[in-house]
Amino acid sequence: MTVAEPRPITATTVAEAIESRRSIRTFVQEPMDQGDLREILRLASLAPSAWNAQTWRFAVVQDAALKEQLREAAYGQGQITSAPAVIVVYSDMEDTLATVEETAHPGMGEQGRAGQRSTFDNVFGAQEVAQRGQWGLTQANIAFGFLMLAARGLGYDTVPMLGFQPDRVKDILGLPAHVQFAGLLPIGKRAEEGFPHHRHNVERITKFY
Ligand SMILES: Cc1cc2nc3c(=O)[nH]c(=O)nc-3n(C[C@H](O)[C@H](O)[C@H](O)COP(=O)(O)O)c2cc1C
Repeated sequence: MTVAEPRPITATTVAEAIESRRSIRTFVQEPMDQGDLREILRLASLAPSAWNAQTWRFAVVQDAALKEQLREAAYGQGQITSAPAVIVVYSDMEDTLATVEETAHPGMGEQGRAGQRSTFDNVFGAQEVAQRGQWGLTQANIAFGFLMLAARGLGYDTVPMLGFQPDRVKDILGLPAHVQFAGLLPIGKRAEEGFPHHRHNVERITKFY
């Protein structure tokens, strides 16, 4: 029996990207177009963050041996090696703090840079690394969502993943101990249909005042 090829799905509006996104765990076996990959990362980097802190960082894994190691760290989940690329999304709040002047808008000049520095030192200076890392992660999660929709908008599919051992992934990628993961994101062209959405309706999850 031949199985029908899933038809490529394009999304030209945000609504279409949201509607057509679903977790895909089997991908077409072809490398990612590197221009598209960079454009998806660029679009995700346009996500908003408090004080424009941009705590998110991306590690893009396309090397087969490294993907295999990531799969092992993710309890053997096969979507990691099926995908041509895996985008590891994490927050690095220590790097954010060390370089915080970079995130002040250039239009604000030297005064803006000094203000950004004092804001971050005042708010986060006395916090534990893990506590401020948690704050950084809330910002990185926004970029994680943007990444999935940016991918869909360019005709790609993804599956967000938190089912992995963080310390093993840090070891594999040589990331510092303090970083916190938004998730792994296998990405490529869908080779399966995935599951239709199953969601609470708006009334179930909303109070209107
Ligand atoms: C933060 C997060 C972590 C997830 N972790 C995994 C995972 O480790 N493995 C997996 O197969 N799916 C994972 N998923 C996918 C969810 O199962 C999926 O998004 C959910 O069932 C809704 O289905 P849909 O994405 O097709 O709409 C994760 C999703 C999110 C948002």
